[in-house]
Amino acid sequence: MHITVSLLFSIILYNTFISEFFAYSITTREKRDIINKRLKYIRTKRAPIDNSYHCDEDNCKLPKCKCFSENNPGSLKTKDIPQFVLISIDGSLTNKSIKYQNQITENVMSPNGCPAMITNFATDENSDFFEIESAYVKNNEIAFNLNETESKIITPKMVNSLRDLVEKFTNIDKKEIIGFRYTGNERLKVNIYHDICDLEYLYDSSFSISPLNNFWPFTLDYGIPTEFNSKSLISGVYPELWEIPIYELLNPDNSTFAIWEPNVSSNGKLLEILKNNFLNLHYNNNRIPFTMPLTKQWLEQDKRIETINEFLKWIVDETNNDTYFINYSQLIEWMKNPVKLDNINKSGIFKCENNRKISCKNPNLCLYKSASFKTCKECPIQNPYLEANLDDIPELSSECNKKVPEDGCGNGVWECGCQCLNNDNNLDGYCLDEFGKCTIPKVYKENVGYICENQ
Ligand SMILES: *[C@@H]1O[C@H](CO)[C@@H](O)[C@H](O)[C@H]1NC(C)=O
Ligand SMILES: *[C@@H]1O[C@H](CO)[C@@H](O)[C@H](O)[C@H]1NC(C)=O
Ligand SMILES: *[C@@H]1O[C@H](CO)[C@@H](O)[C@H](O)[C@H]1NC(C)=O
Ligand SMILES: *[C@@H]1O[C@H](CO)[C@@H](O)[C@H](O)[C@H]1NC(C)=O
Ligand SMILES: *[C@@H]1O[C@H](CO)[C@@H](O)[C@H](O)[C@H]1NC(C)=O
Ligand SMILES: *[C@@H]1O[C@H](CO)[C@@H](O)[C@H](O)[C@H]1NC(C)=O
Ligand SMILES: *[C@@H]1O[C@H](CO)[C@@H](O)[C@H](O)[C@H]1NC(C)=O
Repeated sequence: MHITVSLLFSIILYNTFISEFFAYSITTREKRDIINKRLKYIRTKRAPIDNSYHCDEDNCKLPKCKCFSENNPGSLKTKDIPQFVLISIDGSLTNKSIKYQNQITENVMSPNGCPAMITNFATDENSDFFEIESAYVKNNEIAFNLNETESKIITPKMVNSLRDLVEKFTNIDKKEIIGFRYTGNERLKVNIYHDICDLEYLYDSSFSISPLNNFWPFTLDYGIPTEFNSKSLISGVYPELWEIPIYELLNPDNSTFAIWEPNVSSNGKLLEILKNNFLNLHYNNNRIPFTMPLTKQWLEQDKRIETINEFLKWIVDETNNDTYFINYSQLIEWMKNPVKLDNINKSGIFKCENNRKISCKNPNLCLYKSASFKTCKECPIQNPYLEANLDDIPELSSECNKKVPEDGCGNGVWECGCQCLNNDNNLDGYCLDEFGKCTIPKVYKENVGYICENQ
């Protein structure tokens, strides 16, 4: 009874958020008010909710719902479960991401003849839009890595940021971005799941877990299990939102590498740890997926790329036709409709043909003070990452006691005062107006360049 009541309460709470959010109006101020109200709401109303995890197996059934448990989705015998390997490259997506990806997956194929799939968890900051298209055309899944370290709060706009940029600067339909990974400041996770759910992401992959638990990916219909939420900070239920946790690596002494960043003394040692983990805790155990969230910085260290390639080729040899190297959304597809190993080829579930096309051969190169990227679209007037994330940050900053103009800076960014585009050089740009916004175009003076006449 107690469980039912608290669940009901969580659902009511959740619906309140949804209705608040769908009603959201356009102005920044109103949006901020809603966010502040919501934060207050979470703080004051959180206490009565029973945060321990209770999943009702009778009502939580595939394909819509999966409890957090050791049970594989099809109740298959271990020998019938395909071993899945999920490789991701996280962080800014650049030409290096694609180069490293080609190197680590060289000569690595799934038994159905498809090359090893990669999921790119791309940041909105410093990713190159032409390279995002190139990765997409190579059959990669594009997902979003939000890595927020500075802001005081995560807003819906930030949670949707990569999609908005992809819509403007690539040919990819933003609805194809259905995966989310948060890697920033932990305490900002508190309210993020409402937004991920409202914005209709299919899955999150921001939590990590010890592989010793043997837990399969699951849906958040019954909230966030205590394993990921020990201080019970994240309340609420998130129907049909999948969680694909990052499975940690275990050291010989049973300690784990918190995120997938093993710091080992040699590549021989790394290979040994990878092989032992793969065999003992995944393949020869209950075949929970093997996740490999790689970053460019980590791969750049001494011979890591060769080591990972050797490891992947070893998997192919060691497990014969049992291992599939698929993307994150293919895993969910399989979990919703589990197919036995022997039937995968027949079922066509992991087919890899596509008709994705790159939208231009010679992209524009867009250069800014703090960034550069290529795109097949027109270069925007300022770094779009700054623009995309502009309006929600300033007012909440306690370091700055100035007020941001009602609807942002115009052609500039807020750095405790609007900094106009090209205000510190003689290139074409904008000047401050009487309201402190960047709306007045610079004027051109012979032998001087572009200047602000009014300053
Ligand atoms: C997140 O950003 C911080 C600060 O810029 C950086 O040090 C860190 O490596 C980033 N994390 C990831 C996973 O990209
Ligand atoms: C990758 O991009 C950088 C700068 O954007 C450029 O200097 C480099 O030559 C490129 N590398 C390749 C392999 O295209
Ligand atoms: C699966 O099908 C592909 C081509 O469709 C074939 O190359 C491969 O050998 C088959 N694999 C198995 C295990 O039957
Ligand atoms: C995952 O890979 C499959 C096979 O290549 C592809 O059809 C599918 O579109 C990919 N998923 C996403 C979200 O890109
Ligand atoms: C590691 O954990 C396993 C399983 O719980 C146990 O059998 C083993 O003794 C542990 N090893 C060490 C070094 O603690
Ligand atoms: C990696 O390990 C070495 C020695 O074991 C240590 O000196 C170094 O600080 C570690 N690096 C990181 C990033 O933890
Ligand atoms: C893997 O599947 C292929 C195609 O069906 C088959 O020729 C090969 O013998 C299989 N390999 C093993 C080790 O079972």
